[in-house]
Amino acid sequence: MSGVTTRPFRRLVKELNPGAVGLVVSEFVSVEGMTRGSQRTLEMMRFSEEERPYCVQIFGYDVARMTDAALMVQDFGADIVDINCGCPAPKVVKRGGGCELMRQPDHLKEIIRSVRKAVSIPLTIKIRAGWDEESRNAFEIARMAEGEGVEAVAIHGRTRSQLYRGDADWDLVQEIAEVLSIPVLGSGDVVCRESAKERLKGKVAGLFIGRAALWNPFIFSEILHDQDSRLKGNFDLMLEVLFRYIELLREDFQESSCGGKFKQLASQMCRGALWRKPLLTMNTIGEHEEFLRRVRDGAWKPKGIVEDDVSSEERIDSCDQFATN
Ligand SMILES: Cc1cc2nc3c(=O)[nH]c(=O)nc-3n(C[C@H](O)[C@H](O)[C@H](O)COP(=O)(O)O)c2cc1C
Repeated sequence: MSGVTTRPFRRLVKELNPGAVGLVVSEFVSVEGMTRGSQRTLEMMRFSEEERPYCVQIFGYDVARMTDAALMVQDFGADIVDINCGCPAPKVVKRGGGCELMRQPDHLKEIIRSVRKAVSIPLTIKIRAGWDEESRNAFEIARMAEGEGVEAVAIHGRTRSQLYRGDADWDLVQEIAEVLSIPVLGSGDVVCRESAKERLKGKVAGLFIGRAALWNPFIFSEILHDQDSRLKGNFDLMLEVLFRYIELLREDFQESSCGGKFKQLASQMCRGALWRKPLLTMNTIGEHEEFLRRVRDGAWKPKGIVEDDVSSEERIDSCDQFATN
């Protein structure tokens, strides 16, 4: 997830769910930035050995740049290269990338053929149900990709027009999984063990978990081991996770960039904590850390009655806003 699955976040999730995360994926990385030597873009590929198997997702349009970027991913030591064919953001689709590739199947085929020929590591693609209701072509794209030697297909069962609204179509994921002989994985609305069980049906080979990893970073092991949520109402555990996240963020980012990334997790994860709102009014990671120490040591007490929660609707809205940037 762009802006979310940085190395610190992926490491946190791996640490909190020992043995339960089958695969982590980088933020999507622009092939334009990569092939033009942008340092910031190249840094987005950085990973730690304990993250393996590790996949880098690339996005773009130009066949030669997509191919060069895939080779760079391979040389960088990643285990899998994935092509983003699902991003709905105008700034991406206007330049031909993301979900726009689903509207240009011949061009996508050319990209896949060229990348497949160039790299020896597994190649996967991530698609949506289609561009809109009138052009739901996930099936054709998945079949074409299989024919071109792609090793697995991940499907987010919403169209580009839907963004994140409505329900993801898991019947579609299951139908495609029935027919293809390569692994088909699904994405969309896996938020707890019940929703995971419901979706991991038939020949579906695996589940991708996106937003719910921010709401509950323990979700992977809870699904695998069929456990109740450990985090709900457990404010000490929330604090423990946040302190560890601060450490991991500081290893990768400058002090000035840590605050925003920290708040992204804290705002989603710390529902019900009376200290959530005051925490979110602070901007620097130093302030966050200092405040959380006071909370942990019992030196902070809420003034008066504070109500705090964030409805799932609000959370989904914030994701929508992100996608339309
Ligand atoms: C903030 C945000 C950023 C995302 N960035 C990417 C991305 O870079 N690549 C991608 O394949 N999907 C991306 N997605 C889509 C998710 O991978 C996933 O398919 C979608 O959110 C549905 O799954 P979920 O309900 O588990 O979140 C993003 C989603 C969100 C909310």
